[in-house]
Amino acid sequence: MKIKNLLIDKHNDIFGEAPELVVHSPGRVNLIGEHTDYNDGFVLPIAISLGIDIAISRIPDSEVISVYSLDKEKKIVSLYTDLMKSSGNDDWANYPIGVVKILRKNGHKFGGVRVSFTGSIPEGAGLSSSAALEVAVAYGVKQLYKLNIKDKDLVKYCQQAEQEVVGVRCGIMDQFTAKFGKAENAFFLDCRSLEHRYIPLKLKSAEFIITNSNISHKLSTSKYNERVFECEEAVKVLNEVKPGKSLRDYNKDDYEKAREFFTPEEKKRAFHVISENNRVIEGEKSLKQGDLKKFGQLMNDSHESLRLYYEVSCAELDWLVETAQKIEGCYGSRMIGAGFGGCTLTLIEKKAIPEFIEKLKGYQEKFGIAAITYEVTPSDGVHKI
Ligand code: GLA
Repeated sequence: MKIKNLLIDKHNDIFGEAPELVVHSPGRVNLIGEHTDYNDGFVLPIAISLGIDIAISRIPDSEVISVYSLDKEKKIVSLYTDLMKSSGNDDWANYPIGVVKILRKNGHKFGGVRVSFTGSIPEGAGLSSSAALEVAVAYGVKQLYKLNIKDKDLVKYCQQAEQEVVGVRCGIMDQFTAKFGKAENAFFLDCRSLEHRYIPLKLKSAEFIITNSNISHKLSTSKYNERVFECEEAVKVLNEVKPGKSLRDYNKDDYEKAREFFTPEEKKRAFHVISENNRVIEGEKSLKQGDLKKFGQLMNDSHESLRLYYEVSCAELDWLVETAQKIEGCYGSRMIGAGFGGCTLTLIEKKAIPEFIEKLKGYQEKFGIAAITYEVTPSDGVHKI
């Protein structure tokens, strides 16, 4: 429990008191179903062992959050009554501050908090360090102040914080995974009803690995929000064919009927989301059957669709994916998360991993940066440590 002791010591140093609670919250890797969550669609993620750890204590009779980042060696203090604002270079502080303010906005009453935190998720890798931090803080505040918040509402508050404070019109996948992830399991999530079911991951001699392109994706807010908007516009066109609220409500036949009325962008975005939702449904079946070949093919198709139709990949991600796909023993590979950098996910026979790692030397030669590979271990959602 090295991290726990480190956090306890730092919390003491910075705030002059011991924390009352130490919490771990995981990052996520999405196996399949990209850019479907904000379209009310399906996703199939896992929580991973990398994550965020926080120490937290109460400040009685106060309305202030004081947050210290061990990694940035910086403290930021904010009154609950202050307007929420993006704090330039200190935008890391928006996540914990945003969460407490959203909890209050939703009618939950509690006093001040001191939070110190550190993370093991590489920054900008698209593994959802922000959602992990949000969920850790919401969970910590809920526990300490014994707030009456249902788990799914806690997840929604964290999503709301990201949308309102950080300004990303994100879906619910990342926050949901940080709360509901389960060791040794992936899960299928319906992002409209929030119903979910776990799928034990039995990979035999294969493994999921992630490869960090080291192109920091910085959730390119404007591009991400642009995609959300394009999907909404595509729904307006599809409404001429059949009533519906989001791309989730449409299938390939509806798409064909509306085809000629879309702008070129709307056509591509709708095509991706509709086909990706089907891939998640197929993906769940193939994982349950242990059909890795089929699942790998779905991953490859997902990447192609994200590259060609959703246009969120980049040269570095494509290189990593194509290099993996050529290796004997690789079932499939694709970019994960929002895109524009970040990580790829590869399903590969364990014995073929050294060959892949060897090939990554070519990445360094071509792009002048190193790509790092991590093993993916499905892990539990947020919990006390
Ligand atoms: C980011 C968002 C998620 C989801 C993915 C793309 O991680 O936070 O809500 O939209 O991108 O699938």
